[in-house]
Amino acid sequence: MKVSIVGTGYVGLVTGVLFADKGHDVLCIENNRHKLQKLQNGQVPFYEPGLQELMTKNKSRLRFSDSIEEGVKHAKAIFVAVGTPALASGEPDMTYIERVAMEIAQYLDGYRLIVEKSTVPVHTSEKIHETIKRFAPQGVEFEVASNPEFLREGQALEDAFNPDRIVFGVPSVKAEKILSEIYKDFSAPLIVTNVNSAEIIKHAANSFLAMKISYINAVASICELSGANIEEVAKGIGLDRRIGEHFLRAGVGYGGSCFPKDVDAFVNISRELGYDFALLEEVQKINHRQKKRFLKKIKETLWVVKNKTIAIWGLSFKPNTDDMREAPALDVINELKREQAKIKIYDPQAIQKANEILQMPAIDNHTQHLQQTLQDVELCSCAYDVVTDVDCLLILTEWAEFDSPDWEVIKQKMKQKIVIDGRNMYDPKKMEQLGFIYKSVGR
Ligand SMILES: NC(=O)c1ccc[n+]([C@@H]2O[C@H](COP(=O)([O-])OP(=O)(O)OC[C@H]3O[C@@H](n4cnc5c(N)ncnc54)[C@H](O)[C@@H]3O)[C@@H](O)[C@H]2O)c1
Repeated sequence: MKVSIVGTGYVGLVTGVLFADKGHDVLCIENNRHKLQKLQNGQVPFYEPGLQELMTKNKSRLRFSDSIEEGVKHAKAIFVAVGTPALASGEPDMTYIERVAMEIAQYLDGYRLIVEKSTVPVHTSEKIHETIKRFAPQGVEFEVASNPEFLREGQALEDAFNPDRIVFGVPSVKAEKILSEIYKDFSAPLIVTNVNSAEIIKHAANSFLAMKISYINAVASICELSGANIEEVAKGIGLDRRIGEHFLRAGVGYGGSCFPKDVDAFVNISRELGYDFALLEEVQKINHRQKKRFLKKIKETLWVVKNKTIAIWGLSFKPNTDDMREAPALDVINELKREQAKIKIYDPQAIQKANEILQMPAIDNHTQHLQQTLQDVELCSCAYDVVTDVDCLLILTEWAEFDSPDWEVIKQKMKQKIVIDGRNMYDPKKMEQLGFIYKSVGR
């Protein structure tokens, strides 16, 4: 079947490659010239394990263009996977979605199904519908459906090929049939709902996951205050099948392009609808405080931060991705820079991306924020080089590469033997035996 996808970021490109692999004829629309050029040259513009190989394998069924007109002409189903980043108010910025809706409308010449793949607040499909109706030729037929995406960056292909569930939020049997045809070769449980429910499923799922992280981080703080060990506690909680062991790892807090903005957006839309979702506001506060607590640990250990040299392992918001959006590392770096520390960073994938971003014009808020944060920060290309002559090493992303480093080599290189671990990667006893001052979270 022919499918068009507007927006070729982490979600749009993975979806496009996946559909092509399932035999569909896919046209991806991207309006960022730099990204489009790479895609048209057969290159994935970001790091996601396995994606380059799969994109190359399916290149005969995958095309890239900057023309929404072409996208509308190409397929009956048009997936919208553009960004919905947070505004300062906490609401998601819907300008990208609105613009795509307006553009699609202009070129409609017969029935199309517009499918929301982006994460959007409930009732967005109604807004898209109204917008398209306003800008489309009179009487032209179209519908709007929701097909939320649950992939995790870093394991996006595994998630996309074997999803826990597929959700179709559909306005009609016709729309359901089109989506069923596209997804016919998937074996995951299918949930067919109305569009409002599908939109809420995505926000409610991400907010629940964020809540689990904040919950365990709050318990970790109590462990620190009481002398308990969060790892023992998390195991004792997680083996209860009603709770489950996943997402019970204490750390420096969640980040990324989804949890912070989706929790904000869910709180906002709930408020607009007349419900005060105070529980989720607390989830955000705990996450914010978690980073502050981590910084406090650094300050308490180093005493004077000014003029100290601090190495950081991990810049991406989680392992196996080069995505730095809302990464906890950015807040930590900014705070330490304010205290006039000298910062050096190593990350297995994000350093290359960071170097690219530093060379680019500041095209959006994220790029501008990243450029400011990384100004006067030393970006290193080796985990061992970065620790040379530093007063402290911070662990901010749990990359597999950091699992079992050669601590003897590291010890020789560091000025002060201090490791502050925001991801609980190492055994505190072993670290002390090795001669480090070692601090982690909740133990
Ligand atoms: N990243 C994730 O892990 C993830 C998971 C599930 C859902 N989501 C949701 O999916 C959506 C997209 O997320 P992402 O991480 O892929 O974002 P992204 O920023 O990586 O990608 C969005 C892409 O859309 C392009 N774009 C914007 N306007 C366009 C237009 N008018 N025409 C063509 N292209 C346009 C941008 O240039 C960009 O490449 C968001 O709503 C997000 O919340 C993301």
